[in-house]
Amino acid sequence: MAPYAPRLFRSNCMSTTCVVGILWGDEGKGKVIDFLAADADFVVRYGGGHNAGHTLILPSGKMVLHLVPSGIVHERVTNVIGNGVVVDPLHLVKEIDGVRARGIRIALGENLLISERAHVILEAHRVQDQWHEQARGKGRIGTTGRGIGPAYADRCNRIGLRMGDLIRPDALRAGIERLCSEKNPLFAGAGLPELSPSALFEQLAAAGEQLRAGIVDAGHLLRVAHKANKRILLEGAQGCLLDVEHGTYPYVTSSHASTGGAFSGTGLPPHGMRTVGIVKAYATRVGEGPFPSELHGEMAERLRKAGNEYGSTTGRPRRIGWFDTVAVRYSADLSGAQELVVTNLDVLSGFDAFELVTHYRLADGTTTDRFVAFGLEGATPITQRFAGFSQNLRECRRFDDLPAQARDYVLAIERATGIPVKTISVGPGRDQVILR
Ligand code: IMP
Repeated sequence: MAPYAPRLFRSNCMSTTCVVGILWGDEGKGKVIDFLAADADFVVRYGGGHNAGHTLILPSGKMVLHLVPSGIVHERVTNVIGNGVVVDPLHLVKEIDGVRARGIRIALGENLLISERAHVILEAHRVQDQWHEQARGKGRIGTTGRGIGPAYADRCNRIGLRMGDLIRPDALRAGIERLCSEKNPLFAGAGLPELSPSALFEQLAAAGEQLRAGIVDAGHLLRVAHKANKRILLEGAQGCLLDVEHGTYPYVTSSHASTGGAFSGTGLPPHGMRTVGIVKAYATRVGEGPFPSELHGEMAERLRKAGNEYGSTTGRPRRIGWFDTVAVRYSADLSGAQELVVTNLDVLSGFDAFELVTHYRLADGTTTDRFVAFGLEGATPITQRFAGFSQNLRECRRFDDLPAQARDYVLAIERATGIPVKTISVGPGRDQVILR
């Protein structure tokens, strides 16, 4: 595993690398970050909140992180929750306790920093998230119900609280006052429980005390590190097609999940950045919204079982589809991905045949190879068929160890997307990786 990270960081003379999910999240970013982090100085989350679930397979077993960056298991890495993240402080305190209980060191202010500019998720945001979902009826988005959208909305409405407020009693009191004076009339109109300023103050100040040592001007520290050529690994959350601007709107999350969010969500300058796009060997999606390559019936069920495709945050069964080169090309172009990591190739073992989506036929009968902003709901996929393979891939460590059918499939992905597949993951373990 070690040879990969130095090649990525050094031969490209770029000290900042962004790892981004290419479709709708759940591509296996946690594992990729984990092995790249071995050579990083900083691992930084730049967006989303505890809607994310990044799974690491450690010698001690599986660990799912929601807010704590995935570099936390590496002793010398400084992990940063960037300003673009929305933080539920109560959840964060619990998550830190959970990680520590696994014997992993977290020293706030040392190996875990939280941007004082990151916005706070409150219980009221969760309540509001659920209210919106109910109000949408059949048009529901299928959110994770964690208050992500309402927290970002309050940020835009300029009534949000920031993590830095939690350790400044006067600012916290004033912020809560402002928030409650605007939110309570709206909540009353919607029949939602009123927010109590005093209860909020007590709860947030207590959480602030627990997190105080870690709440810093992270943007400043990152810029200093960047100038000093420190190696910074940016950990994307969700995926490009859930990006609030470029994704399948309105069936998206509320943050800039693509690499566009990496600069605004950290405070780093937009200098040369290497982008590694993560794609699964097939496609998945959680929640509602268009999914042109979606499969139904027995094939979907078999792939779901084989890939254990259940949400790591909500446990919901993931929707399953074929690898979609139209969507991947769009997201890879959008995010500037210079290389792809294909994960879960081993999951395709045992299938007689599988397919690659090359075009869509839209509802009006036209054919396109473009991921269009309107009309994907009625789109049907046009596919290219590939012969399957039965060999178990988990012990493969070189590209040539793969059966010919699997190699053909990977090469077809490269041809269709125009992006080199430099890494292939053939199992959940840290060492189950093929480097090319
Ligand atoms: P929200 O982020 O909870 O508002 O949910 C909006 C949409 O994004 C829903 O379809 C969620 O299922 C999806 N989503 C949010 N976070 C993740 C993630 O980490 N992986 C996959 N889907 C996600």
